[in-house]
Amino acid sequence: PIEDFVRIDALPDHDGDTVTLKGWLHNKRGSKSLYFLILRDGSGFVQCVVSEGDVDDASWAAADNASQETALSITGRVSADDRAPGGYEMQVDAVETIGDSDGYPITPKEHGIDFLMNRRHLWLRSESQWAVLRVRNRVQKAVHDFFQDRGFLQTDAPVLTGNAVEGTSTLFELDYFDDESAYLTQSGQLHGEAMAMAFGKVYTFGPTFRAEKSKTRRHLTEFWMIEPEMAFYDLDMNMTLAERFVSHIVQDVLTHCERELETLERDTTALQQVETPFPRISYDEAVELLRSDATAELIDERIAGLHEEQAELETEREENQKRRGQAKKHIKRQIDAREIEINKRINDIEEALRNLPDWKESAQTFEWGSDFGGSDETVLTWHFDRPIIVHRFPAKIKAFYMKRDPHDDRLALGMDVLAPEGYGEIVGGGERATDLDFLQEQIEAHGLPEEAFDWYLDLRKFGAVPHSGFGLGLERVVSWICGREHVREAIPFPRTIGRLHP
Ligand code: 4AD
Ligand code: MG
Repeated sequence: PIEDFVRIDALPDHDGDTVTLKGWLHNKRGSKSLYFLILRDGSGFVQCVVSEGDVDDASWAAADNASQETALSITGRVSADDRAPGGYEMQVDAVETIGDSDGYPITPKEHGIDFLMNRRHLWLRSESQWAVLRVRNRVQKAVHDFFQDRGFLQTDAPVLTGNAVEGTSTLFELDYFDDESAYLTQSGQLHGEAMAMAFGKVYTFGPTFRAEKSKTRRHLTEFWMIEPEMAFYDLDMNMTLAERFVSHIVQDVLTHCERELETLERDTTALQQVETPFPRISYDEAVELLRSDATAELIDERIAGLHEEQAELETEREENQKRRGQAKKHIKRQIDAREIEINKRINDIEEALRNLPDWKESAQTFEWGSDFGGSDETVLTWHFDRPIIVHRFPAKIKAFYMKRDPHDDRLALGMDVLAPEGYGEIVGGGERATDLDFLQEQIEAHGLPEEAFDWYLDLRKFGAVPHSGFGLGLERVVSWICGREHVREAIPFPRTIGRLHP
C-alpha cells in the first residue's frame, strides 16, 4: 500500500487490529482522565477513546490540547461497537499533533446561511456537507456507469462557444481576442448533436453557465449538466431513456449511500418509489390538471394539514416549557434542542401558509401558452407518487432547435422530467428539428446570428436523421436526493448572482 495509515471507511477490515488513523478532530468530549475524540478523515467519522492511564504524557498532552479541526495522527486498537456511529471505535495507544487549529469559526451550534457560505471552504468539513458531496460523487459515478454500460461514448463539448443555445438573456459574454465575442456555454447540446452524428450515442458531462439574475432555490450561475444525445431516437425513446436514467441514479444512491442519507435524516420513502415507468402527461393535460378542482382540493388539504401540524407543534412547545423548570440539566438541553427544531419547522409552515394561496391562484388561473412557474411544477407533482414527464409544450416557450409536433404545429416535441417534493424540473430535452429550412427560419425568428450556426446547419445537410437528447442538472438531482432546501449545497463552491467567493 502507498499509505502508512488506515482510512476510517476501511475499519471493518481491521476489527481487533492496532492501526494508525490520520485526520482532523471533529468533536471532543471528556472528563478529567478520559477523552472521547471524534476523528474525521473524509472517508468517515470514528470515536477514539483516550484514557490518561493508557497513553504516555506526550499523547495525553496532544489529546488535551487538541481543539476542533486540529490535525491528528491516532494509533490504537479497533473494535466493533454497535452503539458507535459507523459501528467501530478505537481504544487509543498514542496521539500525535500534525497541525494545530485554534478558534475554528464553525462550531456545532446553529449558524446563518450567509455565515456558512462565506466560509464555504471550511463548511465543506461539516458532517452534512460531507454527506451531500459524497452523494454527488455517487451520482457522478452512477451517470458514467449508466451510459458506459449502454454503448454511449463520453464526448466533451467546448466551454467557450460562439453559440447561444438556450436563449440570449442568460449569456455570459467575454471578449475573445480581436473583434469576436465568446460565451460561456449554456448547454453542450449543439456540439453533442454533431458528436451524435459521428458516434451514434454520446453524452457530455460538463460545467454550464447561465447569468440567472433572480435568486431562487433552484438556480446557480454555474452548474453541471449531463447531456446524452442519440441518433435515431424519437421523443418516446428519449423519454424512456430519461426515466430509466433518473431511476438508475436514485436506486444506485439508495444502495450505496445509506450512511450519508441517514446523516442527512433524509426520509427515503419517496425515493424508493422512483421506479419506471414515470407518468407521462402532455402540456395540455398538465394545464387542465392545474386548473382542475382536484388541484384546488389538494392545495386546500395541504393548507389544512399545515394548520394542524402547526397547532400540534405549538402545544408541544408549551408543554416542554412547563416541564423545563424542574427538569434535570441534560433534559433541559434536549428540550432546548427540540425547541430550535420546532421553531424552524413553524417558520417553514408559516412561510408555506403565506405562499399557498398564491400557488392556488397561479394554478387555477394558468393560461395555455405560458411556462410553468416553480409552484406550478410543485403542485403538478403532488398528484403523483414519483417523478413525472411533461411533454409537447407550446413552441413559443421553447428553444429554436425543437422539432414541431406533426399533429399540432403550435407544439414542440420537448419534454421535462419534474421531481416530486417540490424539487421541480430536473431534466429538459426533446426531439430535435431536422428540416434545414425550418431551422433557418427559427434561427432568424429567435434573433440569433446566422453565421454562428452555419456549422450546426451542416448537420442537416449531410445525412440528417431523427435524433433526440436531454440535459439533467446535477445539482438539482443531488439536492433532491439529499432533501436539501437549496441547490447551493449540492456543489462544492456554488456560484449565484450574489456570490463569487470563496
Ligand atoms: O431545460 P434546460 O435549459 O435544457 C437544455 O439546456 C437543453 N439544451 C438540454 C439538452 O436537451 N441537451 O436545462 C436542462 C437542465 C434543467 O432541467 C435543470 O435540471 C438544469 O439543467 N438547469 C439548472 N440547474 C441549476 N441552475 C440553473 N440555473 C439551471 N438551469 C438549468
Ligand atoms: Mg428547461
